Amino acid sequence: MSDLRSSPVEAIANPDAQTVTSVHHWTDRLFSFRVTRPRSLRFRSGEFLMIGLEGEPRDGKPAKPIMRAYSIASPSWDEELEFYSIKVPNGPLTSRLQNIQVGDQIIVRPKPTGTLVTDALLPGKRLYMIATGTGVAPFASLLRDPDVYERFDEVILTHTCRTVPELAYGEELVTRILRDPLVGEEADGKFRYYPTTTRQPSSHMGRITDLIQSGTLASDLDLPPLGLDDRVMICGSMGLNKDVKAICEAAGLQEGSNAKPGHFVLEKAFVG
Ligand code: A2P
Repeated sequence: MSDLRSSPVEAIANPDAQTVTSVHHWTDRLFSFRVTRPRSLRFRSGEFLMIGLEGEPRDGKPAKPIMRAYSIASPSWDEELEFYSIKVPNGPLTSRLQNIQVGDQIIVRPKPTGTLVTDALLPGKRLYMIATGTGVAPFASLLRDPDVYERFDEVILTHTCRTVPELAYGEELVTRILRDPLVGEEADGKFRYYPTTTRQPSSHMGRITDLIQSGTLASDLDLPPLGLDDRVMICGSMGLNKDVKAICEAAGLQEGSNAKPGHFVLEKAFVG
């Protein structure tokens, strides 16, 4: 346990405070952490929450918490919550959040929301999960939810990062899925993982948008081109979301929402 007095993130008197139970630094740009789960919290795999830290009091005014949207990376049945984060240099939240240690406290608002949920998709044959960077987080939740394997015959996760070390969180996730007592057996027959890098050599190189459009993804996985049997969940940068949305629309797919399920859904990965 860390010594809270010397920790950069101190114990807070906030009704939404939760305690950090583990922290893992994957690279100098990426880390994940787990916190205790609010007792009343129920969520659907793929949803996000507002999490943050108390701010500093300024000009005699009381501190205002610094909160950001974070996808929950743990499945809905997990007794803790997991999050996966980028470290933004000088970022108001992540420049401090990256220093959290076991025993520290963060604020977790127990109000889940989001559109990366199976309820926002029409029934289909094949589900593509298209992620870049920390956009893999909601899929870490969904891929450990039996519901996903009940609804689809095939589930394909693509994860694009700049470098090979940045794929590590996704790689460990895949190992965990295949060993998972709840979904491992189903996943073994239905789940496929397609990691790609853009700035360092690896077995699949390039932006996923280019790999879809060139037909490389389909030929590598021996799948038909994107079509009306497919459902797509997209989570990455604004550019990625916009470009994959255009590819989906060109294939005749329509965007879904909680109110009106469709063929594809998207959410912006946490950036600030
Ligand atoms: P690239 O290296 O060509 O920019 P980031 O670390 O900036 O969030 O990016 C994560 C990954 O997403 C990178 O590999 C990046 O490729 C890729 N990427 C960024 N924007 C797009 C886009 N519009 N379409 C496809 N891939 C993208």
